Amino acid sequence: MNQVVDKPLSINDITAMKRNGEKITCLTAYDAGFAAVIDKVGIDIMLVGDSLGMVIQGHSTTVPVTIEQMVYHTQCVSRVRKRAYLIADMPFMTYGSTDMAAKNAAQLLQTGGAQMVKLEGAKIDCVRFLVEQGIPVCGHLGLLPQSIHQLGAYSVQGKEPEAAQKLRDDAQQLQQTGASLLVLECVPAALAKQISEELTIPVIGIGAGVDCDGQVLVLYDMLNIGTSKRPRFSKDFMADCNSVEDAIKAYQHAVKNAEFPGLEHSF
Ligand code: KIV
Repeated sequence: MNQVVDKPLSINDITAMKRNGEKITCLTAYDAGFAAVIDKVGIDIMLVGDSLGMVIQGHSTTVPVTIEQMVYHTQCVSRVRKRAYLIADMPFMTYGSTDMAAKNAAQLLQTGGAQMVKLEGAKIDCVRFLVEQGIPVCGHLGLLPQSIHQLGAYSVQGKEPEAAQKLRDDAQQLQQTGASLLVLECVPAALAKQISEELTIPVIGIGAGVDCDGQVLVLYDMLNIGTSKRPRFSKDFMADCNSVEDAIKAYQHAVKNAEFPGLEHSF
């Protein structure tokens, strides 16, 4: 395919997509080779996810990932990025206080080349502090993989009315505090739709149904090259494609046209 010729996307471009009803595409990226293909296809956001602890490093959780490793992988991706907006995850226990959060987020932006950082949970004080320092923040609610040892299982969140209300309240608070984006992971599709409609910032879903403003998948899951079982909410886009580039194009097309996720990928 032809290179998608475009200027680098800013957070304003991503927010405008929500306003204009254009679905936002996001994939995880951890290295220059895959990142170059993702960027070339025209995926809107690349997320250097701490899922790299599982799919790259072979750990069973994201907990062991360090800030140094996140900076290294963010550098690998940012070196080849031309158009996609670039977000990097803050790993486990790197935002336990506002000072820690600022120091570690600064590394991801200054040394890594990220444009935004993502934090799991309603860490309102940290989000406020980072935003005050001029660091854009993406919230992450629903299933929080860094809390797996507390949760006990990777399961759907927000099924009970009280839990659903808490997620809606947390989402509002994150927006009010200055978060620019929100990832919603593994929540019932109806709840994700409601939250997406209630917020003005874009909501990017994973296992959260088709009515979010955009979708994200772990690259290795959608290319079916993961080391563990693919989650139900993901899809093997390589199944009907002959190349990585074509699989990513198929994902891009399916998300932009609200053909993915289907009901079989939703809760
Ligand atoms: O680490 C990651 O890849 C993520 C996505 C699953 C949203 O946070």
